[in-house]
Amino acid sequence: KQALTVPRLKTMKAQGKPIAVITAYDHPSAMLAEEADVDVILVGDSLGNVVLGYDTTVFVKLEDMIYHTRSVVRGAPRTMVVTDMPFATYRLGPEATLRNAARLMQDGGAHAVKLEGGAELADEIRHLVSAGIPVLGHLGLTPQSVHQIGGYKVQGKSSAEAEKLIEDAKALEQAGAFGIVLELMTEELATEVSQAISIPTIGIGAGRGCDGQVLVYHDLLRYGSGIRDKKMVKSYANIGDTVRSAIAEYVSEVKTRAFPEEKHSFTVKESPENQNAP
Ligand code: KIV
Ligand code: NA
Repeated sequence: KQALTVPRLKTMKAQGKPIAVITAYDHPSAMLAEEADVDVILVGDSLGNVVLGYDTTVFVKLEDMIYHTRSVVRGAPRTMVVTDMPFATYRLGPEATLRNAARLMQDGGAHAVKLEGGAELADEIRHLVSAGIPVLGHLGLTPQSVHQIGGYKVQGKSSAEAEKLIEDAKALEQAGAFGIVLELMTEELATEVSQAISIPTIGIGAGRGCDGQVLVYHDLLRYGSGIRDKKMVKSYANIGDTVRSAIAEYVSEVKTRAFPEEKHSFTVKESPENQNAP
């Protein structure tokens, strides 16, 4: 298997082939995603919510994204890996944006970067693309602006909002973005955007008309405690419950001395060294 390329992604849209994206934040999740044949792994700054325990993505730092991207790239060497640029790291002008994106690629190993915003980012995107950095856009609900938006609300409901979003999508394409994530908007609007541009749209909570879909790893697997039901998410497993009950069983077996058993224990005679390697 070969990692997907940016030109190939655009071909997929032209051929009507859906693009399957999942987030991952570490080595095991990346390995499993690659083995399951996803098209693209996104090291999302949702990292802040689902792994680091912050209540918004605003707290995620460039260093966090580099550190986690490195482990993802090691786990999925044959998959295209896109990393989120964190809050404000692409808002200090094209030069600073390039410096930060370059770190995600050189120190992190990402193949591309994603940033949240519309036409106001055209200069930054042009600068990145001219330096050989593929850029994925992100429109609709943009979680880094949650304090401005005032909550996780469905976007593009008014016609003025919808028009602006379509203009932003065109501006991102014009500036050289290779695709756009569309988050939390009406199916009607996401479909219209997808038809108005030739680069692929990757939807999350954006309905059936997008060129691809993305879900957050921990949502898809219900991997965590207290993961809320969200209309836009489909959970394909319930790993959180599995993990909790497995750990509870372990605790109980230690308390009752049911674990370890003789078969988990060593004697002088037998001890094949490498069996205990990590
Ligand atoms: O951070 C993230 O996981 C994302 C996706 C939800 C698109 O940006
Ligand atoms: Na994100």
